[in-house]
Amino acid sequence: MKYIFILFLLFSIDQCSSTTTTNEFIILIISEPHIYILSQAHNASTFIPAHIPLLYTHSYASSIPNWYSIYPIFSSIIDQYSQLKWLFICEPQTRFNLTKLIEFSQKTKDLYIGHGLYDTEPSIIHHYSFSFDNPYPDFSSGTLISRNVLSLFIDRFQSYTKPIDFIIDIKYELNQLINELTNTKLTDKSKLFCNEYKKNCLTWYEGQYDYLCERKDIQLDDLYFGIKTYVKYHKTRIDLLKKTWLNNKLHYNLFTNEINETADNKNERFIITKENTDRGHCHKTFTILNYFHKNKENFQFLIIADDDTLLSVKRLLELIRCFMLSNDIPMVLGERYGYGNYYDYPTGGSGMIFNRQAVQQILSNCECPTPDTPDDMFLGLCLKRLNIQLTHIRELHQAQPNAYSKEWLQHQKPISFHKFEDINVEEIYQTYLYEKFSQSHHEKDEF
Ligand SMILES: *[C@@H]1O[C@H](CO)[C@@H](O)[C@H](O)[C@H]1NC(C)=O
Ligand SMILES: *[C@@H]1O[C@H](CO)[C@@H](O)[C@H](O)[C@H]1NC(C)=O
Ligand SMILES: *[C@@H]1O[C@H](CO)[C@@H](O)[C@H](O)[C@H]1NC(C)=O
Repeated sequence: MKYIFILFLLFSIDQCSSTTTTNEFIILIISEPHIYILSQAHNASTFIPAHIPLLYTHSYASSIPNWYSIYPIFSSIIDQYSQLKWLFICEPQTRFNLTKLIEFSQKTKDLYIGHGLYDTEPSIIHHYSFSFDNPYPDFSSGTLISRNVLSLFIDRFQSYTKPIDFIIDIKYELNQLINELTNTKLTDKSKLFCNEYKKNCLTWYEGQYDYLCERKDIQLDDLYFGIKTYVKYHKTRIDLLKKTWLNNKLHYNLFTNEINETADNKNERFIITKENTDRGHCHKTFTILNYFHKNKENFQFLIIADDDTLLSVKRLLELIRCFMLSNDIPMVLGERYGYGNYYDYPTGGSGMIFNRQAVQQILSNCECPTPDTPDDMFLGLCLKRLNIQLTHIRELHQAQPNAYSKEWLQHQKPISFHKFEDINVEEIYQTYLYEKFSQSHHEKDEF
């Protein structure tokens, strides 16, 4: 806990001391108020000279609603840096040749530049848009936004009346808003704004590696999986889970409405929940939380997944080793979606990860309004009420691989995908998620 505060303090001191320069080129790193991400961000800062102002999105978390969707903090940045000419938005693992990048920004006629991503088919996470020729930025390669575009954006956003509904894909939605409000399209300079290191690149991404945190204290045996299912899906979805990631050695239960006396295996680890709901699942999810709390006391971590969620258990364990740094502080990991200006939540299909402290606090403070309240959204509301920060994990996916830009998927190691419709489940699992536990690991099982 203390360590976290010291890091926060360090960052704020850093920001103050750098305001004494010309402040024309400002770097904004997309970050999270989580100590692992802060460590990544700190590492990034060591590549940036002290006279360049360096901002972090997470430092607006307590003051600006929807800070994580980036544009809500634009006006605050312009207010603070009146001399700003360029805002460079990037991720903690984006690297760049700053001299060349600044030179480039001084010469270019373009106003909004980066590495363009394209949809090749209508995607559920982009509201099935048919615009395939309009690039949106990959922040891993960094994106330059000029003052012109920012000012116009801020100006026009004040009278923008369309309500914000669901926040799903930040980079896509931010781009849509910039297009709409400022009439500016992203200039795609993929050869200069690169997603891996190549000669002549101004920027590149160093991200594609495993979460490698040496932790002996967190093993597979510390993870408990609660899977939400329904009698009709036992023979279809659950069988597919077993052909992919749901290994017998994992600690799990299947939370369902009833057992099929003729078809189901009596030894299967079913747990019957009192009420079944077609949608929503609040009751089912809280049954899992309660069961973990009361009956699974030896486990530190709870993963809640759907019966059509594909997981890479190896990567999940590595993720937990890096991110679950304290048993005393409640921690929740998930894929962040937002609901308007109200709250964010870990979207359920991609998997939700809790430590015991988080489960305890949720159970003692929140109760489903109705059994079929949407479970993930209600959890988001509950986390907000409890002031528990949800940490966004971009390797978790609410949709199937084809809903995401191929190029964007290529520079990450995905941890989950969701929904079995119209895909070859086993093939998708093999292609995107399957990875052997290494030989040095004492678990020799494959997932
Ligand atoms: C930051 O850099 C240090 C030193 O190279 C390294 O040990 C650490 O793992 C890095 N942190 C992250 C989160 O990558
Ligand atoms: C950045 O580019 C300049 C000009 O090409 C070069 O002289 C310099 O070595 C580069 N710096 C780094 C850190 O690569
Ligand atoms: C139970 O299993 C049988 C045989 O597979 C199937 O025909 C029936 O529809 C199942 N019942 C339910 C409620 O899913």
